[in-house]
Parts: sequence; structure tokens; C-alpha cells
Amino acid sequence: MLNGKTVVLGVTGSIAAYKIANLASMLVKLGADVQVIMTENATNFINPITFESLTGNKCLVDTFDRNFQFNIEHIALANKADVFMVAPASANIIGKIANGIADDMLTTTIMACKKKKIIAPAMNTNMYENPIVRDNIKKLAAYGMEIVAPATGYLACGTTGAGKLADENLLLDYILREIAYKKDLTGKTVLVTAGPTIEAIDPVRFISNHSTGKMGYAIAKCAMLRGARVILITGRTGISPPPFTEVVPVLSADDMYKAVIKRKDEADIIIMSAAVADFTPLNVSEEKIKKANGGLSVELKRTKDILYEAASDKKPGQFICGFAMETENLIENAAAKLKEKNVDMIVANDLKTEGAGFGTDTNVVTLIKKDGITELPKMSKNEVANAVLNEIIFHKNI
Ligand code: CTP
Repeated sequence: MLNGKTVVLGVTGSIAAYKIANLASMLVKLGADVQVIMTENATNFINPITFESLTGNKCLVDTFDRNFQFNIEHIALANKADVFMVAPASANIIGKIANGIADDMLTTTIMACKKKKIIAPAMNTNMYENPIVRDNIKKLAAYGMEIVAPATGYLACGTTGAGKLADENLLLDYILREIAYKKDLTGKTVLVTAGPTIEAIDPVRFISNHSTGKMGYAIAKCAMLRGARVILITGRTGISPPPFTEVVPVLSADDMYKAVIKRKDEADIIIMSAAVADFTPLNVSEEKIKKANGGLSVELKRTKDILYEAASDKKPGQFICGFAMETENLIENAAAKLKEKNVDMIVANDLKTEGAGFGTDTNVVTLIKKDGITELPKMSKNEVANAVLNEIIFHKNI
């Protein structure tokens, strides 16, 4: 995903410096060339050899290291960078950058770098709340740097408050948003439905399905990384929704229907991957359940077909894609859904195929459009998400 991209990581003196080893490792696994620059203070918390082992590159610390060409190194790195992240960023480095001080390898390289800079502060709560630090952070933002707000939690100094370095996965997502993929969905809005819906029988029980939301979240994330504004209407799942998306949580099919109807006209592309429960219980009372004595039969009513409703009131130029879970006659049934629901594409998966469907990290899908069928091999849900978006972009001529 990051082949051919160079990420420069600036590590400064904070106990959270050790977390950057994990970030560097994740970036290397995604194919990035990772260059780490440490301040002298950072070396008190983590050894440069850790980064050298993980990245295969020399970890730069001091501008006047005589083992390499110090006079041009910071300029070369600054030019090579596709993105520059300082994490953890101490109050000291934030103050230096905000005030144009360049007195070591890290600050000189930042000064010389014209690419996007992402700053992730980490420090004691009192320091973070200090008005001088606040002003310096505002100044960095005003110069176009991206600030990753620190998390709130238990800090190494023994207090609880804001100042904890943001999670490594979030730091990675900030980098990916900047440099992963071609930004071919910039200016477009993508609405995605994901996860299961649940239909309450009573305050305790409900009808639902095995959807985990993984496929829909992968689509939302890929669309976001490709530059789209993403509205993610999601049922309750056990996984975190992707960052930088507008998350609309819902529970029932009716909630999801109302949310889709409210937001659908904002979208250029609608992708409905939610596994909507087809039925909802009717007139079930506590009393009926108590009296049931093990034999309650529940009357069911069909839920609204959200995809059908959205497609029947489609905005001109909008592309609508649905999913179809089939257990037999995959192509025939999915093609019938394409027609009945009057949508532009159906992504069909056969629940009987190994590696397809609910819960897995892979999927095996067939893309069905009016003008043709494309069978895709077993792929990760992330790859399927990209393939679905590629097909839509190709079709829409974006
Ligand atoms: N869908 C929907 N609202 C429903 C049921 C389904 O929006 N009440 C959407 C799903 O999100 C999916 C597509 O319709 O994009 C097909 O869903 P699927 O469950 O495969 O089909 P159904 O129409 O429910 O038909 P069946 O369950 O009988 O196969």
C-alpha cells in the first residue's frame, strides 16, 4: 500500500517514544521506506538501534554525526519525505518548531521539508494545558500542520488527564490518509451502510444476524483514504469505525431507513453492505412472554427494504450499489435483486464458499451490473473494498 513512499518519523523525548517502534514496524510492513530522526533526549527513552533494526535505515540523531554526510542529510531527507510525522512531540519540540528554531537534525529537517507535517503531542496534562503550549500548537495548525489530539488517560507521571500519545493505529491512519492510494474520490461523498440491524422482541431479546460490519467498514475506510467524504450509517458492531468518517449509529432497520433517507441526497455513491434484518416482531408484550410458558409464537412484520427505497428515489447521476448474500444460485438471485431493486451494481457473495461472508477477513465476490459480470478471486475485505470502488469509479467515469 505504501510502496515507493517515504515516511519520516521524528521522535522526541517522551516516555511514549517506545510506541513509535510499533508504528515504524507497521509502516515497513505496508511497504514504506521509513526514516527515523531522534532528538538527543529521545535516545534516553528508546535506543536508535531499535528503529534501525525495524526500518533497515540509519536512525539519525545528531546533525554533526561524522559517519555520514551531515551537511546535506537533512535537506536530502526533507526532499525525500512524502509525509513527516513528529510523534511523540514534546512541549519543547512544539515550542521550537512554532518559533522557527532549527538547532538539531530533527528541527532542521522539519524546517527544510515542504510536505505535510503531522504533529502528535504527548506530555504531562499540566504542560499540555499550559497556555504557551496551547498557543504554540495553534500556531503549528495555522501553518498548515495537522495536529493529532492526544488521548485522555493514565499518564506515566501518575496523573490522569489529556496528554497521552494517540494510539499507534490512529497515527498510522493519519499517515495513510495523507499518502495511501490515489485520491480519486476527492470531492465525492460516499454513503455506506454497514453491520447488522437488530429488532427488539422485548427490552431483553432481539432478532438479528451474524454481520460483523467488517466489509462495510473496509469500504468506508478505503473510500476515506481515497479522498471521499464518508457517511457511515452503522448498526451495532464490535469493531471501531474508521476515523475521519461521519458515523451515524443506528440499531433497528427502521432507524437505518430513516438515517439513509435523511442523508442519501448528500451522496454521489451509495453502498449498502448492511445485513438488514428482514423481519421485526409485532405486538409482543411482556405479558404475552410471561404467559407463553415456553410456547410463544411471535408475529413478524417485514422491515422496509432500504436499498429499494433509496434506489426508487435516486438523485440523477448517483450510483447505488447493494450487496447480496446468497446460499444458492448466486448469479441468478443476485441478478434478480439488481433488477427488482433497480440498482447499478450488486456485490454478490456465496455464503457457502470458504473465505466468504460474515466474520472472516476475506471475501469472495462477484460484481453484477446490467452490462456484465466480474468474478473476483478470494481477497482480503480491504482488497474487495478497493475493487468495488474501482468498478464504481470506472463505471461513473470519475
Ligand atoms: N437490504 C435493505 N433493506 C432490507 C433488506 C436488505 O436495504 N430490509 C439491502 C442489503 O443491505 C443489501 C441488499 O438489500 O444491500 C440485499 O440484501 P439481502 O439480504 O441479500 O436481500 P433481501 O432483499 O433481504 O432478500 P433475501 O434476504 O430474501 O435474499
